[in-house]
Amino acid sequence: MTTKSVLLIIGGGIAAYKSLELIRDLSKRGIRSKAILTSAGAEFITPLSVGSLTGAKCYTALFNLTDEAEMGHIELSRSADLLVVAPATADLLAKPALGVANDLASTALLATDKPVLYAPAMNVRMWQHPAVQRNVATLKDDGALFVGPGEGDMACGEFGFGRMAEPSDIADAVEAHFAGRSDGRLNGRHIVVTAGPTHEPIDPVRYLANRSSGKQGYAIAASLARMGAQVTLISGPTELPSPAGVATVRIQTAREMMDATMKALPADAAVCCAAVADYRPEIETEHKIKKERGGLSSIALEENPDILNALSKLDVGRPKLVVGFAAETDDILCNANAKRKRKGCDWIVANDVSTGTGTMGGDNNTVTILSEAGEESWENMPKTQVAGRLASYIADELNKRSC
Ligand code: PMT
Repeated sequence: MTTKSVLLIIGGGIAAYKSLELIRDLSKRGIRSKAILTSAGAEFITPLSVGSLTGAKCYTALFNLTDEAEMGHIELSRSADLLVVAPATADLLAKPALGVANDLASTALLATDKPVLYAPAMNVRMWQHPAVQRNVATLKDDGALFVGPGEGDMACGEFGFGRMAEPSDIADAVEAHFAGRSDGRLNGRHIVVTAGPTHEPIDPVRYLANRSSGKQGYAIAASLARMGAQVTLISGPTELPSPAGVATVRIQTAREMMDATMKALPADAAVCCAAVADYRPEIETEHKIKKERGGLSSIALEENPDILNALSKLDVGRPKLVVGFAAETDDILCNANAKRKRKGCDWIVANDVSTGTGTMGGDNNTVTILSEAGEESWENMPKTQVAGRLASYIADELNKRSC
């Protein structure tokens, strides 16, 4: 196998220090890197530390005649298999989105004929600014890949989305991109995936939820994207960064998940992996319920809409393949099959979520795929492997149905 190489563009953000760890992580995975450090990036880390870790010259300026003689900026951006921008600041997202090239980093981004993976990092309000979101949407339309940002505490003291994805997650996305490069079995397909729990508010500080981490659904979305599908991931609240190349819509409640899922249609397939709360409090109070007044001794509940059921029974615009999941603790296959028939989906993936299995929140899963044609049980394996195999089955099925 030939060694893959990355051109890492390091922007000016506090997360720049993490790019040093990224270089090491990539190198451990056998991926070579060269780096461009922007002048703002050089305020946070030095060209010497970058060059020491890549084992190559760290490029900094556009009009360095030696660089241009040795390797022009065009060759620099084309000699790599993938460009990775980490941290991708608002500035580094804006320039390629608008076609601006006025330094080495932005010139390399416009001159390249290779895919680009952005790992955004900025303050939450900057990330949410409509101008930044417009630029992200433009870059995605142009085929750019994204990993993160994640949610959490920021260096500026605020909390929210804008934290750069962890170096290992960026390296995973790079590796996944290289692993999936040749597999275009889902090219041209749009697939909607739901993942994670939903939070059903009781009052401003409390909610009903479950133990789903989103790991299984995110892994499925990532696998489908690697196979060339355009993936819309409708996610409940999770700690996970958006998988590379996936459009992630974040929601809180079952009703929001239903709206977002229907809005994402038309789709060739839908995979409902989310652990949607079946019920929500009948009343969401505006003020915090006081314990002293006994307001929480009982909570009246009402049923949430069932997304899988609604998708499977659409008269117009039903995805060709609808896959549900069944989280069961007993009589697993029998209950799962009854669920498949009742909700009307084509396949249902049964998994045992009883205490001790670690399925909910853990890294592994043991599943059985049930369909009209019968059942197939898979051995216990990492959720990423379940995802890869399921994505492959979905590709085969969609291609069979198109014949
Ligand atoms: O997130 P992880 O920690 O990785 O864990 C993965 C998982 C165990 C959550 C996942 O593999 C799984 O089993 N997801 C479905 C969990 C679930 O809610 O199952 P259910 O039996 O309650 O629902 C059956 C199906 O109907 C599911 O496809 C569910 O998404 C769907 N549903 C349920 C209720 C509802 N209101 N709307 C729905 O669409």
